[in-house]
Amino acid sequence: MRRTASTWILILDFGSQYTQLIARRVRELQVYCEIHPFNADLSAFADAPPGGVILSGGPMSVNEPGAPHLQTGIFEWNVPVLGICYGLQLLAHTAVPGSVEKAARREFGRARLNIDDRSDLFKGFDSTCVVWMSHGDHLIAPPPGYSIIAHTANAPIAAVRHEHKPIFGVQFHPEVVHTENGALLLRNFVLGICRQPQSWTPGSFIQNQIADIRARVGTDKVICGLSGGVDSTVTAVLIHQAIGDRLRCVFVNNGLLRKNEYQDVLKLYRDGLNLPVVGVDATDRFMSALAGVTDPETKRKRIGKVFIDVFEHEIREHPEYTFLAQGTLYPDVIESVSFKGPSATIKSHHNVGGLPADMRLSLLEPMRELFKDEVRAVGRTLGIPEHFIGRHPFPGPGLAIRVLTDITPERLDILREVDHIFISELKNHGLYDQVWQAFAVLLPVHSVGVMGDERTYEMTAALRAVTSVDGMTADWAHLPHDFLAHVSNRISNEVRGVNRVVYDISSKPPATIEWE
Ligand code: XMP
Repeated sequence: MRRTASTWILILDFGSQYTQLIARRVRELQVYCEIHPFNADLSAFADAPPGGVILSGGPMSVNEPGAPHLQTGIFEWNVPVLGICYGLQLLAHTAVPGSVEKAARREFGRARLNIDDRSDLFKGFDSTCVVWMSHGDHLIAPPPGYSIIAHTANAPIAAVRHEHKPIFGVQFHPEVVHTENGALLLRNFVLGICRQPQSWTPGSFIQNQIADIRARVGTDKVICGLSGGVDSTVTAVLIHQAIGDRLRCVFVNNGLLRKNEYQDVLKLYRDGLNLPVVGVDATDRFMSALAGVTDPETKRKRIGKVFIDVFEHEIREHPEYTFLAQGTLYPDVIESVSFKGPSATIKSHHNVGGLPADMRLSLLEPMRELFKDEVRAVGRTLGIPEHFIGRHPFPGPGLAIRVLTDITPERLDILREVDHIFISELKNHGLYDQVWQAFAVLLPVHSVGVMGDERTYEMTAALRAVTSVDGMTADWAHLPHDFLAHVSNRISNEVRGVNRVVYDISSKPPATIEWE
């Protein structure tokens, strides 16, 4: 638990799709914050009350029956409060029921904000700026004791402040990038008005975690599954620093990794990071479980099942291990507790190779307070090489969901070669870090080609590269044509079995990033 009295920000979630963004913006200011549902038990914070509270937006109207309400207990802490959108409407509605109404014109998107008071919240702003609005309701009058500090052509009350207390409300969303100076507004609130110390740094996180892990594990032993991804790797390196070789890491080869990946990653774990790791090559078991399977969800289930079997075997063989370490991140934690309004985004979760059923082990999840970008920062501070930290996401079921038919070693090998050419060329051309994820897909479509004087009848490779922030939505990457031509040329010349290359120009939605 990272909370110490008055040195963290509580974000109460009313179901906004942007709540996590608010938290990330606060964390970027090196201030610790936590998201809790609007109806969280406030007495749980009695030992270490926050130094400020942010009320998120939300999809409902404060006038709807069952709409999430404001717990007035937050005012007893006497700390600054910032209400965003629904949060502002709640401040008004709680003070004077009936003071929020359906707006004549719903407002979505950009609006020009005119700032009437450029102290405190709007310190350092010009007199106007562009903000991002997204609301159907508006205030008909500022609550008693509040004054208007900003307006737009459409919304005469776009921001308010209490005249004597540090309570503020804004109708727009400072957390989204479309709001100019949104980060400055949050900075003014968190650092200026709430006077928070900037003590949330990778170094302080690591120090605290090492102490916590030592205290919790004592003289016991920890087992940790490594996937080759950033989260599990950072988890293992951190635990290793805390308890040394009482950690045992297991890296399973499922035969679905990319070219040379098993050997390269194992070598990095052993030689580069000094981790006590055993490699378990279970390729044959995965291949037999996948034989003849074409349905994507069946592939995922079979892979997950074999992974758990392999891992459980490891655990049974080593009963002296009493903790299981996992790279759970903060978004997974929030997802399981957060309030979901009726129009909240629907997320699909892909968890392959999750928890073994054996609950004899206690869970150790040192990353559960971190966002993905914070995990990377911690990883860098722990000395994990940049080329590893910056790797694109790779799905648990690996290449199995990129061969769009049943899996055979030959098809996997063809795909590995195609993928390798694409990814190494992206790196050679300095494009790898500009895309969020890139990979190749093998399509079981045969088409006619000509090579020299010979007719060919071979498969098609699809290349996919996307830009994204979190993988929830994505756009296809507009890679230069010359680059694509070069990659296509290399693939059809060098990879036997592929005579045609296509580039995927679908965004998500409506497509997904992976093809299966
Ligand atoms: P989609 O295809 O849903 O992918 O747009 C979003 C992100 O999730 C990854 N992904 C998976 N990761 N197991 C995983 O661990 C899975 O079954 C899985 N399916 C998709 C995908 O690579 C992308 O980064």
